[in-house]
Amino acid sequence: MEYLRGFSVKELKVRLRQSVYEKLKELQVHENKSLNKLINDLLEEAILKMKEDKDDMRLFFSEKPLVAFERENICLYNNDFITVDLSKYKDSVDLIVTSPPYNVAIEYGRHKDDVSYEEYLEFTEKWLKKALILLKEGGRLCLNIPLDKNKNGLKPVYADIVKVARDVGFGYQSTIVWNEQNISRRTAWGSWLSASAPYVIAPVEMIVLLYKGHWKRKEKGESTITRDEFIEWTNGVWTFPGESKKRVGHPAPFPLELPRRCIRMFSYKGDIVLDPFVGSGTTLIAAFIEGRKGIGIELDSKYVRLAIERINKEMEKALSLPLDL
Ligand SMILES: C[S@@+](CC[C@H](N)C(=O)[O-])C[C@H]1O[C@@H](n2cnc3c(N)ncnc32)[C@H](O)[C@@H]1O
Repeated sequence: MEYLRGFSVKELKVRLRQSVYEKLKELQVHENKSLNKLINDLLEEAILKMKEDKDDMRLFFSEKPLVAFERENICLYNNDFITVDLSKYKDSVDLIVTSPPYNVAIEYGRHKDDVSYEEYLEFTEKWLKKALILLKEGGRLCLNIPLDKNKNGLKPVYADIVKVARDVGFGYQSTIVWNEQNISRRTAWGSWLSASAPYVIAPVEMIVLLYKGHWKRKEKGESTITRDEFIEWTNGVWTFPGESKKRVGHPAPFPLELPRRCIRMFSYKGDIVLDPFVGSGTTLIAAFIEGRKGIGIELDSKYVRLAIERINKEMEKALSLPLDL
């Protein structure tokens, strides 16, 4: 294929055609604009856009991938998701299941989890852009995030992240409300028994369903969900408990049930499942159990070691089981 500055000529043509179309629509509003000026504006915009995309490519694929673990179709990298060179997976991931850092001052080690809200949304924009590049057309993202947060001022995290995701180009499908039965969050009342300033807190987290291009999968595949699971899980309120930090040894793990449901419901057997924020490795464990290929990235080497230990344990368990005859 012919390439120009990292883009295929086909991609460039599509981009230019889009800009011309949008400009022509605009021209109907400003009919007195001269054709020369229009062409110049158009070219300037196209060049600017190409420069932005090129900068993104340079940033997003600059760091050498460090393979920390590779076994039974599960691969784990000890890198920063935003900068690691994952160009070999461009347009090939079927499903992303992840829970990014929430910016709630958790002591992660290498990741700084108490930046300003603006910086947090910039970080969100960057990783979502990269996730979109890696997904194939019709690929999906199950994004586990909080509804809101009240540390350092109340913020509508869910609403803001969905906006960022749509701005970078994701399509929005729907949202699952995960009722994690966490009663510890019910202790901040605000003004007790007074209308002065009561606090309303929903003890839930969200799993946003997003996609690249179109929601419907065009290719056929083998689904592994049962009838009862399908009926139960298509009701968008999921109730199951959260995971214990102490038991797992990570400050913010999600329970295996979360990626297990997402993988069964939204991917086919053998699909590629990615988790850009692996933590203790829960998504990769679920991918292995469910017979999918798993790719994970984790910044901190102590969590990489923990994830490897947990994945290996699961693999040993599966390998020691007698075969069903
Ligand atoms: C909320 S935790 C994920 C927990 C995971 N779902 C589990 O079940 O253990 C987020 C993880 O992302 C990691 N992380 C933060 N920034 C990262 C980055 N830029 N690239 C890769 N991993 C990152 C943190 O070290 C942390 O382990």
